[in-house]
Amino acid sequence: MNILAFAISDTLEPGDEVLLTVAEHASNILPWFRKQEEKHIVINYIPLTANGRLTVENVAKTISPKTRVISIANITNVLGYTVDVKAICELAHKHNILVVIDGAQGVPRTKTDVKEWDCDFLAFSSHKMCGPTGVGVLYGKYEHLLKLTPPFMGGGMNSRFDTCGNYSLMLPPLKFEFGTQHIAGVIGFGAAIDYIESIGIEKISEYERKLKAYAVKRLQAEVPNIKIYNADNDSGIITFNIEGIFAQDLATHFNAHNICVRSGQHCAKILLDYLGTAATVRASVYFYNTKEEIDAFVEAAKKGEDYLDAFFE
Ligand SMILES: Cc1ncc(COP(=O)(O)O)c(C=O)c1O
Repeated sequence: MNILAFAISDTLEPGDEVLLTVAEHASNILPWFRKQEEKHIVINYIPLTANGRLTVENVAKTISPKTRVISIANITNVLGYTVDVKAICELAHKHNILVVIDGAQGVPRTKTDVKEWDCDFLAFSSHKMCGPTGVGVLYGKYEHLLKLTPPFMGGGMNSRFDTCGNYSLMLPPLKFEFGTQHIAGVIGFGAAIDYIESIGIEKISEYERKLKAYAVKRLQAEVPNIKIYNADNDSGIITFNIEGIFAQDLATHFNAHNICVRSGQHCAKILLDYLGTAATVRASVYFYNTKEEIDAFVEAAKKGEDYLDAFFE
């Protein structure tokens, strides 16, 4: 996302607009903030619906003659809502706007087809799909990659340079490989992708959605003081609070039951202002989770209030 924000911003004029949403991960906001400071591009936020969804209608309403880029996650990391990328690309391209997709959450759990979507760029991370940390994929339409200037320089990406300061770069994708690549990570990532493909992404999506629906149904029926922010999403991300319990305390409680959840702001700090809460707990279901684990999770959630009693005894 940094490579894209930096390289694309180099092609923009001061006052040109980049559209984001408040639901984006820091990785899809902070690189653009840097360019707002340095290049005086303007960041605008596409309004979300009351429950945090991004609609094509709202994208259409926010586009202005100055809009050059729309950069959004196809599945957001806190609420897990799915975006209609194809419709947004169609709309954006009518206005000559580039579309960047942050696929860190979407690619591991739903079918990704950059040709069908017609998105201009897509980035995603290995560690969200059973692969090693510190490695990811950046896809771009070749004609764009040819035009963009890489934001960083190093060995491997140049074809020649001389003492006068002349240099020429390799063709994409090598042009963007500044420095020695994370070879072991890339091989590990490849193995993770093969593994996921051997199961089938559609199967993973369906399994994850069923497991999540089961969890939500039980939580809503059996934990009356729970507030789930995204019960109606189409992915395995359940974001919630239990009334009267600080999110970090609740996470510690789950941890004591050997259940890993994340608490806090989930790198989406401005979304929580939008949701009107300082922190939430997030349980992320994936294909390796089982119904029995969901049962254990619900049982632990039912005892959430006990944690505070134990704390104050
Ligand atoms: C939607 C989204 N975008 C970006 C990231 C950041 O990925 P990375 O840490 O690999 O840069 C994450 C998760 O960490 C994410 O959930």
